[in-house]
Amino acid sequence: MLLKVFSELATGKLTRILLPGLLTTEQQQACLLSSSSRFLDVGSGLGKLVLHMTLATGCFAAGVEIVSNRVKLAVEFRDKLVEKKKVPAWVAQTTSFVAANAATEKGPLLVNGAHATHIYMFSVVFSDHDIGLLAARLNKTDFKVLICALKHRHEKTLFKLTNAFQAVPVEVSMTGGGQHFKMCVFIKLGAH
Ligand SMILES: C[S@@+](CC[C@H](N)C(=O)[O-])C[C@H]1O[C@@H](n2cnc3c(N)ncnc32)[C@H](O)[C@@H]1O
Repeated sequence: MLLKVFSELATGKLTRILLPGLLTTEQQQACLLSSSSRFLDVGSGLGKLVLHMTLATGCFAAGVEIVSNRVKLAVEFRDKLVEKKKVPAWVAQTTSFVAANAATEKGPLLVNGAHATHIYMFSVVFSDHDIGLLAARLNKTDFKVLICALKHRHEKTLFKLTNAFQAVPVEVSMTGGGQHFKMCVFIKLGAH
């Protein structure tokens, strides 16, 4: 789903529907997750998305996760996949995982030493306090696309993101659990 959204933004398919003409062709193209992008999963759990994104595009991909044991498992899982030749050996070089609270640590919004260009966060599980701190941190970075799951109470905080606009609100219901939330895409207007 993430890859589809990135590519539809890049071709103008989504923005044409919601915000006609707002993005230049150059800005649209910057939305595509490609081998030169830096993908960050904020709250990366066991690292599934990080692996998928690097495998799909060859980009550098990183995860920041507050539960340190999940980071340990993510690294072990990735290394086992490499060892068993289930994924190419380069995946060990293009992926990294950090155990930290993404809201408070200074470094983890970086991927391979530079600001993440494409960020995903399943932020419904984040505390209100952390969402506020994260929004402030994100305002200081030059990400291009941020895709996040929002709970209604988080909207006011995240919509304070500067130089970014909400392009795509999509209502999502979790199967079984009955949770309802929106997936939102924020694009930095300065993206080039
Ligand atoms: C539902 S999981 C998502 C896993 C992964 N993104 C995926 O889609 O496979 C959300 C993760 O966010 C982590 N998390 C919650 N608050 C966080 C914070 N402030 N900093 C970093 N990780 C956090 C949780 O521990 C949990 O592992």
